Amino acid sequence: MTVLLEVRDLHFCYPGSAEPVLRGVSLHLGAGEKVALIGSNGSGKSTLLLHCNGILRPDRGQVRVAGQVMGYEQQALRAWRRQVGLIFQYPDDQLFSASVAQDISFGPLNLGLSDSLARQRVADAAALCGVTHLLARPTHALSGGEKTRVALAGVLAMEPRILLADEALSTLDPWMRLHMLAIFERLVAQGKSILLATHDLHTVRTWAERVIVMRAGQVLADAPPAQLFSDPVLLTRTGLDAVVKGVLPPDRP
Ligand SMILES: Nc1ncnc2c1ncn2[C@@H]1O[C@H](COP(=O)(O)OP(=O)(O)O)[C@@H](O)[C@H]1O
Ligand SMILES: [Mg+2]
Repeated sequence: MTVLLEVRDLHFCYPGSAEPVLRGVSLHLGAGEKVALIGSNGSGKSTLLLHCNGILRPDRGQVRVAGQVMGYEQQALRAWRRQVGLIFQYPDDQLFSASVAQDISFGPLNLGLSDSLARQRVADAAALCGVTHLLARPTHALSGGEKTRVALAGVLAMEPRILLADEALSTLDPWMRLHMLAIFERLVAQGKSILLATHDLHTVRTWAERVIVMRAGQVLADAPPAQLFSDPVLLTRTGLDAVVKGVLPPDRP
């Protein structure tokens, strides 16, 4: 399996914070892999994903894409974002243009594509994500689920090899979730990789080939779901035993 994304020993503390948020995180993502990232609120999932496309810069450690150590100069970041697309946890953080069409075309135009090629990319991505009818809308006049789909279209218009999706399914209705998973399936069939942060254990069990479990800025487990949910040692170590049994241990709030 070709490794497309590799994170090595990432350490990170937000400026001004006393406690580090990432404490030596390492993981990899292979071509065509579907991986779920889980962990309690505040475990560092979003912070990790923001490191995977260069929005945050680690205090220590590195990110490699297709074997290359990524850099933080403007040119290098642009090349990085072309390969690694991120759907933010909160779509309002992602959408900033006045209209949906402008928002989706921002990436392709930024890549230096011609107007006609960018238009084609926008039309294709919008059709794929079911937002063609929203292209003329102001971005602020969208529902949460529509914003997520527009954000996905904007990312896909860049044609990245790796898609990072931060709780992207949580704002969607069940039909749109299926639609989004079907889009993921098409990307995977093209050899692209998907890392999905989610709290939805049904999706984890049925969709993911591998699950990475984080707690307090560390990776506690990295295993296929069937193994994770059947191994008592892994269940205890990750705290998932409580979730599976439906009983909170006394030391958890
Ligand atoms: N911009 C920020 N500045 C300071 N601390 C932050 C910031 N964003 C997140 N954190 C803190 O980092 C920790 C991890 O947050 P986050 O990566 O969002 O976790 P998760 O996505 O797993 O819920 C939390 O304690 C959170 O309060
Ligand atoms: Mg998060």
